[in-house]
Amino acid sequence: MSKQAAKHVRKADQYDDPTHNYKQYWVGREYEHAAEELAIMRLLKGRQFNMAVDVGGGYGRLSKFITAFSEKVILAEPSKQQLDIAADYLKDAPRVEARQLQAADLKMKSGSVDLVLMVRVLHHLPDPGQEFSEIARVLKPGGTFLLEFANNAHGLNRIRYGLKGKVVPKTPVDIRSDANKADNEIPFVNHHPKMVLRQIYDAGFELEAVLSGSNLRSTRLKRLLSPTTMLSLEKLFQPLLAPLYFGPSIWLRLKKR
Ligand SMILES: C[S@@+](CC[C@H](N)C(=O)[O-])C[C@H]1O[C@@H](n2cnc3c(N)ncnc32)[C@H](O)[C@@H]1O
Repeated sequence: MSKQAAKHVRKADQYDDPTHNYKQYWVGREYEHAAEELAIMRLLKGRQFNMAVDVGGGYGRLSKFITAFSEKVILAEPSKQQLDIAADYLKDAPRVEARQLQAADLKMKSGSVDLVLMVRVLHHLPDPGQEFSEIARVLKPGGTFLLEFANNAHGLNRIRYGLKGKVVPKTPVDIRSDANKADNEIPFVNHHPKMVLRQIYDAGFELEAVLSGSNLRSTRLKRLLSPTTMLSLEKLFQPLLAPLYFGPSIWLRLKKR
């Protein structure tokens, strides 16, 4: 492992949180889950891959889903707790192989991967340059990187900052509670799309497509609208609002140069 990568690798037990069940987190978030599968289907439509890696894939929620697009999928996840849930969740998915790995050190041959998926992970990486370089290293030239991240410059936040006469900061914003910071819990930041795009470009990727995701993420809307209406609107808004980087979740399809 390079000295640079070593700076980004943590002790494995730092990724476990016995008080949090990530599988349980998804109960009641069916809209968000369906919105994410919709974005992946759109961005990967008509493509087939041999080898995919789901970086920070948790218990494999989306690893199983992307077997529709790839012969083989490696779930690369540092948390033993998540991997234990994965062992059960992936019982009927023999084409997914789980490995305990961190994004900064994927321990795979250079140019051996066709597709990398990284969803809901960037908020744990305040300075993701090293992780982006490692993903670029394992991907073949022309390979695909599907990146989803929590957007600090989403529509409502821009209004909130604007009302105070301010603009959304470009640098990552740490949203951990003081107690979590004191406990040295793993980072939790939201990123600005402009900054992410710059870092992605520096790591050797070019932008192919953008979608704006989970545009209707609101408890009130979920109460007012049926799941079918929510999803129909989401389908419309994902490409429509993409140029504005409006949604709380941004999807990028990137190609390794
Ligand atoms: C919110 S979960 C998302 C899981 C999965 N991608 C999904 O969308 O269901 C964030 C995951 O990122 C993993 N993670 C955090 N830091 C990581 C790192 N440096 N490298 C790889 N994975 C990491 C965590 O262990 C956790 O499983």
